[in-house]
Amino acid sequence: DVRLLHSVLHNPGIPPTSTIEAAKRLAAWTAVDKHVLPEHKVIGIGSGSTVPYVVERIVAQGHEVNKDRVFIPTGFQSKELIVNANLRLGDVDQYPIIDVTVDGADEVDHDLNCIKGGGGCHLREKVLAEAADTFVVVADYRKNSEVLGTTFIQGIPIEVASFAYAKVLQNLHLIGSPKAVLRMAKAKAGPVVSDNGNFIIDAPFPAEMMKDPYTLLTRIKMLTGVVEVGLFCQMAKAAYFGNQDGSVTVK
Ligand code: 5RP
Repeated sequence: DVRLLHSVLHNPGIPPTSTIEAAKRLAAWTAVDKHVLPEHKVIGIGSGSTVPYVVERIVAQGHEVNKDRVFIPTGFQSKELIVNANLRLGDVDQYPIIDVTVDGADEVDHDLNCIKGGGGCHLREKVLAEAADTFVVVADYRKNSEVLGTTFIQGIPIEVASFAYAKVLQNLHLIGSPKAVLRMAKAKAGPVVSDNGNFIIDAPFPAEMMKDPYTLLTRIKMLTGVVEVGLFCQMAKAAYFGNQDGSVTVK
């Protein structure tokens, strides 16, 4: 992602190479133009492969406006993005009130409920979404769905205290996700460890349970050892999806 940001920053105006990348950029640029206004001084930057285009568009707003702003990252990747773009870095403990946070999503339903955490950053992402006056989601067309759980996402990402993962897995199996698994690093080198030092579980739930994401979120969050759940229920003010035909769907 940092390489992608370098590429877009050093080749401004050069279109991204795939339809999906173009769709991500379209969503990101449209959302920034609409929601990241000159009067916004504290800005949350999300994680994932769509967010470099958010930073790209913010940089294009110019040094005059950006020199008085501070940017709050949702993890290691967005921290790198902010620093590499020569923007001022802050943290949410210094700035617990954020004007606007722009972030990606793995899936967004008709009510703006989201699944997030494909990159394992959803704990910080949720803190920044909640801290923001306005939380805006940007994604390509594949993430736009009616009901959560109907796209390609492998279940709900759940961050857990590492020592508690086996117990949480057992309890997830009992409450309706028999296929919940610990997320493993590539080549199964070991569990994925979040920026906060925790493990991630991916828990697919049946469609019937996904229809009521708030109830499901509450049930999962009650399990001891769960740190945060990648279900963002009615936190987003708007979601922007870039489409294959060059249009943008706004929810
Ligand atoms: C990371 C996230 C990301 O925002 C989400 O996975 C979307 O990523 P991308 O923009 O690459 O599709 O929640 O934890």
